[in-house]
Amino acid sequence: MNTIIKKVDFINPEINEDVFLQAALIIKNGGLVAFPTETVYGLGANALDPIAVKKIYAAKGRPSDNPLIVHISEISEIYPYVKDISEKAEKLMDAFWPGPVTMIFKKTNLIPAETSGGLDTVAIRFPENKAARFFIKKAGFPIAAPSANSSGRPSPTRASHVEFDLNSKIDMIIDGGYAEFGLESTIIDVSGEVPCLLRPGSVTKEMIEDVIGEINVDKAVLEKLENGEKPKAPGMKYTHYSPLAEIIIVNGDINSVVDKINFLVKERLIEDKKIGVIATEQTKDRYFCDNIIIIGDRNKPEEIASNLFRVLRKCDYLGLSKVYTEAFDESGIGLALMNRLKKAAGYNIIYA
Ligand code: TXA
Ligand code: MG
Repeated sequence: MNTIIKKVDFINPEINEDVFLQAALIIKNGGLVAFPTETVYGLGANALDPIAVKKIYAAKGRPSDNPLIVHISEISEIYPYVKDISEKAEKLMDAFWPGPVTMIFKKTNLIPAETSGGLDTVAIRFPENKAARFFIKKAGFPIAAPSANSSGRPSPTRASHVEFDLNSKIDMIIDGGYAEFGLESTIIDVSGEVPCLLRPGSVTKEMIEDVIGEINVDKAVLEKLENGEKPKAPGMKYTHYSPLAEIIIVNGDINSVVDKINFLVKERLIEDKKIGVIATEQTKDRYFCDNIIIIGDRNKPEEIASNLFRVLRKCDYLGLSKVYTEAFDESGIGLALMNRLKKAAGYNIIYA
């Protein structure tokens, strides 16, 4: 399959209407189109068409029990597809939509089992990104879209990442530049009595609790699950975001971390491996290593979060086999950042 790649202006998508019409035609005919959002790129298909949705699983190599997020372009579009919207859910919709928050509702029969992974709930997201919304509007139906990476790889924050993973497996990529937040949306389950955070993101637990009071947090957000334990978001059980390199997080006070990483790098170099270090602006000049990748400013967690997946992909691009990374503070967006980094490292953490 030849994958069509077209650039669009994500601030004024109307000026590229022809590209969106072409994408809409492809998706109406059951095809797959990757598109930009403010979190990561999505791989879209018609959420109401089981055959189209199955193609997403095939292209990504995704297990079929891992449900997809359904994307809309207006709040009013959700009503045919969800049931029993609680007052708290309405408050969250008012506060955070459009934006990087996905909510889990009880579903109606219009959502096929292929889209919801056989569950009786459905994940809905109303993205802020104008190109995403323009595309959904032109399609005229809700769009099911997981992140547009091959299953297990870091999520794509650039069209080039999508191309690397899925070229010739999908019909089209709409290139709308880089994804602003760079981490996938916050997922909150509002289908039960007490809302529950299933995946942390740039809208933080604190921000949600400011709007609706205390919420629960699924164990999978905070720690590695034991064998046999199941997260509420099926996708949280899979190894994720992994570059080919082995990632090791070194935690502790920053001076000890730098010393420890320098010690480990020196030791490993004898083993003749290609070693890298993920460093910050503050520490980049303190490492003795040929491959230093700068992830951002230690005092700007948003910047670090938005660079994380690109940096993980760069580890592969450089052909590294082992990469040491500093750890980051887990408050606010740091919870989402460290959740992704720990998964990328397979929870391999050393204390300095
Ligand atoms: O930011 C995002 O959310 C991006 C963009 C493209 O919108 N999408 C994304 O999709 O990250 P994906 O498929 O990579 O992650 C969806 C997560 C998975 O962990 C999945 O298990 C969970 O959402 N999920 C989907 N439907 C669910 C449901 N009904 N109940 C619980 N978890 C659900
Ligand atoms: Mg994903």
